Amino acid sequence: MDEIVIEGGVALTGEIAISGSKNAVLPLMVAGLLSDEKLILRGTPRLADTQTLARVLRELGAEVEEFGQGPGEGLSVHTSDLSCTRAPYELVSKMRASFWVLGPLLARAQEAQVSLPGGCAIGTRPVDLYLKGLEAMGAQIEVENGYVNATAKGGLKGARIDLPFVSVGATHVLMMAATLAKGTTLITNAATEPEVVDVGKCLMAMGAKIEGLGTRNLSITGVDKLSGADHTVSRDRIEAGAFALAIAATHGDAHLTGIQEDVLGALAPAMRLAGCQLTQEGDAMRIVGPKGRAIATPVTTEPYPGFATDLQAPFMGLMCGADGVSRIRETIFENRFMHVQELVRLGADITLEGDTAIVTGVEQLQGAPVMATDLRASATLVIAGLMAKGQTRISRVYHLDRGYERIEEKLSGAGANIWRETV
Ligand code: EPZ
Repeated sequence: MDEIVIEGGVALTGEIAISGSKNAVLPLMVAGLLSDEKLILRGTPRLADTQTLARVLRELGAEVEEFGQGPGEGLSVHTSDLSCTRAPYELVSKMRASFWVLGPLLARAQEAQVSLPGGCAIGTRPVDLYLKGLEAMGAQIEVENGYVNATAKGGLKGARIDLPFVSVGATHVLMMAATLAKGTTLITNAATEPEVVDVGKCLMAMGAKIEGLGTRNLSITGVDKLSGADHTVSRDRIEAGAFALAIAATHGDAHLTGIQEDVLGALAPAMRLAGCQLTQEGDAMRIVGPKGRAIATPVTTEPYPGFATDLQAPFMGLMCGADGVSRIRETIFENRFMHVQELVRLGADITLEGDTAIVTGVEQLQGAPVMATDLRASATLVIAGLMAKGQTRISRVYHLDRGYERIEEKLSGAGANIWRETV
């Protein structure tokens, strides 16, 4: 098992290149099931999660191939025939986004048996919105023995779907399903996350008719068939946010390449309030850490363009060293504070009150052995390790490898003392 070791206290400098977005590439790969032609995805990140999803897609009959090396490298998904419509528990339980194959399977093959994904470390994460939405489109759905068994004899039909609250995954799945339904589907309260826009653009390149991308109202008029496409995946705003916070937390001055400020949503103003400078310079963003300690800044997680739940933990890392008390409120997932106990091991002063973490900044974190508990929690431990005096050793780094491409190489390229050890 690998561990990440960090000797903290070095300010980050230079350039860090931002990879393709994990949370865009996963639904984009799933979209490859909608067509019998090849979908080419460029600029894809190399992550454990894309490998896991590739296994699921292959099980269903898709050919998934990686190509190239360096910029522009990518992968293709070619599903000339959906030879199987069953996504088994053994595969779906490894990664929640695998459940999203339900939409394309039902739209293209008119049947699907997909294992329920189950809960995970950050919360219970039900799928009721997906199922109600597909039922509104005419699907017959039964949940039996841990599986969703769905059929849509004669095909899915356009419908009005009013989502009671914003769900990224439900928006992806219902939008994909609607591209091949008969008639027009209106989704209200749709997610506007950049990854949803990215998937929508790719579907349109495949011939889908979608209006309202990036707004709360999506209108999708079904077509008989989708073609292949050649699509470049958007850059990872969550990776960019985590690196921006790492630069700030080490009082560094560095550039993130390939990213525009607007995709950071509410992170950018929050970082400015905390005393950081963010400047767009062409396709790069320059991040300069605060002079002295950061200023304690409150944040509340919300759907995009609000403060991203995936950046809540990394932001807490910065706040651990801030001057004053910051209140960090998590409203998207009910159990997304698993990093708190580990940050406390590094000397942070944090107490939990319901959905809010109260972080009293300390002058100096101290290195310690810590354990990664989930993907974004592990990024926080890296940030805290970079801030801390002495050595931090992070175990269970497979969580990091799920969503951050070569994180130790990228950070050591910016001057950090960080390396991987196999123990
Ligand atoms: C996506 O998860 C992301 N995953 C998450 O990133 C991200 O945290 C989340 O969106 C919110 O931005 C991927 O893109 C692969 P949701 P998703 O449906 O789609 C509840 C990471 O670390 N809900 O928007 O699963 C749900 O429980 C991951 O990269 C229902 O109640 O999130 C949550 O409380 C973690 N019923 C809220 O909605 C449903 O049917 C929002 O979840 C669906 C969702």
